[in-house]
Amino acid sequence: MTSPTRICCIGAGYVGGPTMAMIAYKCPDIQVTVVDLNQQRIDAWNSETLPIYEPGLHEVVKACRGRNLFFSTDCRQSVADADIVFVSVNTPTKVTGVGAGKAADLAYWEGAARMIASVSTSSKIIVEKSTVPVKTAEAIGKVLQRNCADPEVHFEILSNPEFLAEGTAIKDLENPDRVLIGGRDTEEGRAAVEALSSVYERWVPRERVLRANLWSAELSKLTANAMLAQRISSMNSISALCEATGADVQQVAHAIGTDSRIGPKFLNASVGFGGSCFQKDILNLVYICESVGLKQVADYWHSVIQMNDYQKNRFVERVISGMFNTVSGKKIAILGFAFKKDTGDTRETPAIDVCHGLISDGADLCVYDPQVPKDQIHRDLATPKFLWDHPTLPNGAQMPFSCSQIEKSVTTSSDPYQACAGSHALCVITEWDEFASLDYERIYASMSKPAFIFDGRNVLEHERLRSVGFIVYALGKPLEAFLRPE
Ligand code: NAD
Ligand code: UDX
Repeated sequence: MTSPTRICCIGAGYVGGPTMAMIAYKCPDIQVTVVDLNQQRIDAWNSETLPIYEPGLHEVVKACRGRNLFFSTDCRQSVADADIVFVSVNTPTKVTGVGAGKAADLAYWEGAARMIASVSTSSKIIVEKSTVPVKTAEAIGKVLQRNCADPEVHFEILSNPEFLAEGTAIKDLENPDRVLIGGRDTEEGRAAVEALSSVYERWVPRERVLRANLWSAELSKLTANAMLAQRISSMNSISALCEATGADVQQVAHAIGTDSRIGPKFLNASVGFGGSCFQKDILNLVYICESVGLKQVADYWHSVIQMNDYQKNRFVERVISGMFNTVSGKKIAILGFAFKKDTGDTRETPAIDVCHGLISDGADLCVYDPQVPKDQIHRDLATPKFLWDHPTLPNGAQMPFSCSQIEKSVTTSSDPYQACAGSHALCVITEWDEFASLDYERIYASMSKPAFIFDGRNVLEHERLRSVGFIVYALGKPLEAFLRPE
């Protein structure tokens, strides 16, 4: 098969939706159907209010929805009709059983594979789009072949991990650094790789479509995320040293980033990395290393997560110690709740840990985020770690705070000025562009004094804010004590 005409994608989430929309947009002759068990999500994809916020996505969807892009809950029929089936279901961290807290939960993947096998009456290319542990293709291959009634039906599995980042998904999909396709080194395997490559080559230069064996492709995805997260943890560790010595982490990042071997990207110290991928994928890598007896390798990668947890705690401690060692009964404005700018996604956002830390010390919070609604914020703060991606709470799951406690301690506002009014401090947790251009004179006038700013993203003009009257703490920057020795 060199020219597929029908593609189906199982999983209409942050990856399945945008990725398939881009394929449909670039390949008008290919019919693309995205299916999901979640009726609400599919309804949203078919509406004017898409289920995810992503710059540029709406325009792409509008250009091809109803033409060659369809969203449906009829998973079985769409899979049965397809030449290529992408599987882009969630692969969250396991919360119970063997490997709980580290291993990837492949239950959704296996469920999808069993369904594919049960409805297939023609041979298909099955594409792993989800991020999975290395060697998953082997296990999924067995599930597929042994559950299909027709022995003539052949499933050729490819690994095609997705490298898009949220907030820039459309840009990343339209102009990817590379597309990676892993397949078997057999006649059928090579033909399948070429068939999938021919889809991407409609808009991606051929030399950017990398070919690899299945296991290298699977492992490359985990390694890429681990390396990216490791850069952030490295800079975050240096941010602590900067604060202790009077160095400036942005100056250090610039100085090292101009070394072409290091490069300038992903060197921003922050309150901690978040998102659905980094922690989950590193934990998965750690689990795989432990499973094959590589304890030192597992410990090495685990330290990237430990440093991230340390950074989130350090930020909370800095807020509390900065505010005379107590935030009890004080109002604190939280600016930004999403895990990064230009998304409404809150999975593993550092805002959750920061809010938990401050609530534990008795603070009253008011959260403002341009894309995250109140219900989502309250739900996130009342959900135990790792459980956001699971539809039901397992028995015995510990709630971090009761819903009534969250209701009591956390309000939200759709206006940043209102969120800050009457507060003792504001904490910048997400780097939304609009935070840099707020009227800080107005905000200062409305706050209790002394008025504190804790910039967890280094997006504000700290000297200007100091001249307004704020006491400013900026991550990895010389502390006020260094700037103005008594
Ligand atoms: P998501 O939770 O947003 O979407 C997954 C969807 O799959 C859900 O809507 C769920 O209802 C659906 N689903 C689960 N089982 C199903 C089944 N058997 N049949 C039909 N639908 C089913 O997840 P996501 O963020 O899109 O991530 C998907 C995969 O892609 C994960 O493995 C993730 O690690 C990987 N990934 C994510 C990103 C990202 O930025 N979010 C980037 C690269 C890779
Ligand atoms: C990541 C990978 O970048 C992407 O390739 C993969 O497909 C999915 O996981 P994503 O999680 O969507 O993408 O966003 P990313 O831009 O990587 O940011 C992750 C977290 O790191 C965010 O919380 C972000 O604010 C933080 N970050 C990023 C930093 O703290 N400093 C940086 O320099 C860069």
